Amino acid sequence: TERSVQVKLVLLGEAAVGKSSIVLRFVSNEFQPNKEPTIGAAFLTQKCRLEDRVLRYEIWDTAGQERFHSLAPMYYRNAQAAVVVYDVTKASSLEKAKTWVKELQRQANPNIVIALAGNKIDLVTPSASPSVPESEDEADDATATPGETGTSGEPESLRQVPRDEAGLLFFETSAKTGEGVVEIFTEIAKKIPID
Ligand code: GTP
Ligand code: MG
Repeated sequence: TERSVQVKLVLLGEAAVGKSSIVLRFVSNEFQPNKEPTIGAAFLTQKCRLEDRVLRYEIWDTAGQERFHSLAPMYYRNAQAAVVVYDVTKASSLEKAKTWVKELQRQANPNIVIALAGNKIDLVTPSASPSVPESEDEADDATATPGETGTSGEPESLRQVPRDEAGLLFFETSAKTGEGVVEIFTEIAKKIPID
């Protein structure tokens, strides 16, 4: 019998770093070049299938504009996971991300799983073949099956230092090409305890 658990996840980060675009890629495998800024927050859900269980992410995609900062605690309170996003082409967005991580470490659930994502990596790397096929998948259950994402493929046996040694999971992503996006949610899922 398959275990299914709900996981409340919040996205935080400076305006325009690509939070909503990461969620759109994860939930619908789509990208919008001119995505409008989020007002307040948006709520989306997506399943994530691991080998031994299925998680259902309840995703709060917050607004990065400073005027919405004070709403954030409503969304990270009780969250089991957070994705803090910055833009690799904008140094100030990393500083903002660091302040979000500190705020989460002080104020959020002490067991929260935090992932840091440097997004828009497509803008700084020579264009290779997209890691996500352009063709539309008819998946409303676009699952994240380890080994089928095509982007990890790392020989685990060589690793001596875990990805989260610094207390955070870390990713570089592109919502535009899909690089690294499913991995964020799959790696977080692996860290959510089975209860
Ligand atoms: P707020 O809702 O205002 O906090 O912004 P956000 O963090 O949700 O950013 P959003 O997803 O709206 O993206 C902002 C702009 O960056 C949009 O025009 C996106 O198309 C673009 N964008 C997002 N991710 C990427 C990416 O990985 N690569 C490139 N090239 N552009 C991106
Ligand atoms: Mg947004």
